Amino acid sequence: MNRFVFTCIVLLLGSVNASMAQIKLQVDNVDEVLKAMTLEEKAMLVVGGNRRNESADANGMLGAHAKSVPGAAGATQAIPRLGIPSTVLTDGPAGVRIQPKRENDSNTYYCTGFPVGTALACTWNTQLVEEVGRCIGNEVLEYGCDVLLAPGMNIHRSPLCGRNFEYYSEDPLVTGKIGAAYVKGVQSQGVGTSVKHFAVNSQETNRMGVDEVVSQRALREIYLKGFEIAVREGAPWTVMSSYNRLNGPFTQESKELLTTILRDEWGFNGIVMTDWTGMRNTAAQIQAGNDLMEPGNESQIKDIIEKVKTGVLAESDLDICVKRILQYIVKTPAFRNYSFSNKPDLKAHAAITRRSATEGMVLLKNEGGALPMKNVKTLSVFGNTSYDFIAGGSGSGDVNKAYTIDLMQGLTESGLEVNPKLANLYKSYLAYQKCLREASQTRGGWFWGKAPSPEMEVSRTIVNQQAQESDMAVITIGRQAGEGGDRKEDGDFLLSDVERRLINDVCGAFHLAGKPVVVVLNMGNVMETASWKSLPDAILLAWQPGQEGGYSVADVLTGKAYPSGKLTMTWPNNLTDLPSSHNFPNVRPTAPRGRGNNKVEFQDFTKHVEGINVGYRHFVTTGKPVSYPFGFGLSFTSFTYSKPVVKATKEGFTASVNVENTGTKAGKEVVQLYVTAPAGGLDKPARELKAFAKTKELMPGESQTVTMDISLYDLASYNEATQSWETASGSYTAGFGASSEDIRVTASFNLSKPFAVKCHDVLRPSMELDGK
Ligand code: BGC
Repeated sequence: MNRFVFTCIVLLLGSVNASMAQIKLQVDNVDEVLKAMTLEEKAMLVVGGNRRNESADANGMLGAHAKSVPGAAGATQAIPRLGIPSTVLTDGPAGVRIQPKRENDSNTYYCTGFPVGTALACTWNTQLVEEVGRCIGNEVLEYGCDVLLAPGMNIHRSPLCGRNFEYYSEDPLVTGKIGAAYVKGVQSQGVGTSVKHFAVNSQETNRMGVDEVVSQRALREIYLKGFEIAVREGAPWTVMSSYNRLNGPFTQESKELLTTILRDEWGFNGIVMTDWTGMRNTAAQIQAGNDLMEPGNESQIKDIIEKVKTGVLAESDLDICVKRILQYIVKTPAFRNYSFSNKPDLKAHAAITRRSATEGMVLLKNEGGALPMKNVKTLSVFGNTSYDFIAGGSGSGDVNKAYTIDLMQGLTESGLEVNPKLANLYKSYLAYQKCLREASQTRGGWFWGKAPSPEMEVSRTIVNQQAQESDMAVITIGRQAGEGGDRKEDGDFLLSDVERRLINDVCGAFHLAGKPVVVVLNMGNVMETASWKSLPDAILLAWQPGQEGGYSVADVLTGKAYPSGKLTMTWPNNLTDLPSSHNFPNVRPTAPRGRGNNKVEFQDFTKHVEGINVGYRHFVTTGKPVSYPFGFGLSFTSFTYSKPVVKATKEGFTASVNVENTGTKAGKEVVQLYVTAPAGGLDKPARELKAFAKTKELMPGESQTVTMDISLYDLASYNEATQSWETASGSYTAGFGASSEDIRVTASFNLSKPFAVKCHDVLRPSMELDGK
């Protein structure tokens, strides 16, 4: 080679290097940056970096920089050479989850504890949920994070799932609409969301190994539908795959789920990240379309590099994930170099929490108009949780909030006198229990939350005394649950013996004295009510209503606010009335779930033999009685429905109905539109929720016409024989209901031509759904 040619090559290489060194990530140069990345850098970008702060590269050329906000769950790694910043991912869903205190720092970093997901969903108010989302998104932004790991969108298949409090409903439409509203609210602040856990993570027992075996129809109509709605309407930046297997592979390794359905059919164009799994097959994840592996592990980077070098993984597959991550990064506050304040307006957000909680509370019973309370000055307040109120569930869904207002405080600040003798008894008992707990160090820590204290026994003598001294009794029954475990039937779904005696004795003594009793349910999930609901005068389902909980409950009890929530799940008479109980962990008698059906350690399966008959779909079709039906909720006032109309539009139908407040107090009504399909064709539930609307606040005598749109796609069912969504032609009935079992007025409408959308034949069940 002559000298000239050599010099040219050196100059050329130099200029390539120089231009590569200079290129920095911009909104519009993602492809160029991708080209400039080394294999090591690409591998690093698809592996989360929260656990490490030092250089990941053996020769120290790459800095595995992960920005850290103390307590945030995860991060993507920075590549400073290319101007790629680190981004921070934080839990969710009831508020931002970061450490409230930092070393050598006198500032605090508390976040607002909002009502749990179930409570928000029970508002059936998408505008309100969007508003809550905006507040949470603002805290994500102002605390220097980029993505909120929320909303939780799994289906309440059984009341025993330990994480139901994070999820919305047994129904996919409610789940999807509430989820989409939440996503829109959070993302309006310029930060992202991660809808999770995709998909069918409806039980916590062995969540890392269980294979959820589900029919294609039930998957499409029940378990994926909510995600589909949230993806199509909310456009989340990210989706989180789940820990479990689905019809065979782990969801994070399922191309059929993450690419064919999520991207090709639904048009999702953000990134998919894993749940916090640790090590699984890196190549399979990338090939499936799972872009980001959280929380990230050094060995995953090495593994990816190795697999590309040995041809096990095509670099072009890796490039697809890297490109999507770059496209995500340019949207983040970290990329904009947003100068966050660490000072969101916590006071303003607390006010919104207080208000949104009351709107999600469900009045289950109100005999003789016991609520709002009248002529009550002094109260006897029973139940541990009255004094130790539960704001939210445990695990990653718990929020490090500055305080929780308990019921005692809420009532006292409303001007009521809470019987001090009884209050002091409870306070000393709880203080003693706390000491015992600390001494024994049983169940606790962030994962399990505070271990609940056993309910205090109150003697009949004390109860009788209280009935003489007070005008009314309030009994709070509390439950706590969270990720990593499912609930049990005894003492959790069912009342414990002590609680049962307490309700019996208090109702007996107070009623004898002619005084009312209210039971407040402070939980994130469903419990058995059929055996005791006849005893108290009123039952208020307060859920886990967030950090202002005691104020919110007191607002409703005193009538300062009114409850307008309705159930987004069925409250069955017995657990075994639910078809899912035949194959859900922890239900007696032991259900036919499989364990050890193959050699993979820890692997078992749960067959969803009930198919689409989840929740109310089963009960309205079979006519089996329930304690409180899906969609149920009383009000302080009453509503009358009239003038049901359904009209054809270009895309489908518009349904409207007039709702009048015929009672004596202000209120809001949740109108539910249930559709009954023409007979013949696919077997369908007797009626299915296809739309809902909530009225504005209606004063006595005031009315409003609410309008709901239904597309032909909304009316479709999934036909496994043709692998299509199909809407049959014929005559449909629209039932405008105050609950799934209280259809007030109906209108029929006709579809002259059938409608169908072809899908892919994917996610076939991994074994026979035969109930064994
Ligand atoms: C949970 C996720 C959570 C993640 C990060 C996991 O154990 O399943 O919901 O976002 O941890 O904390």
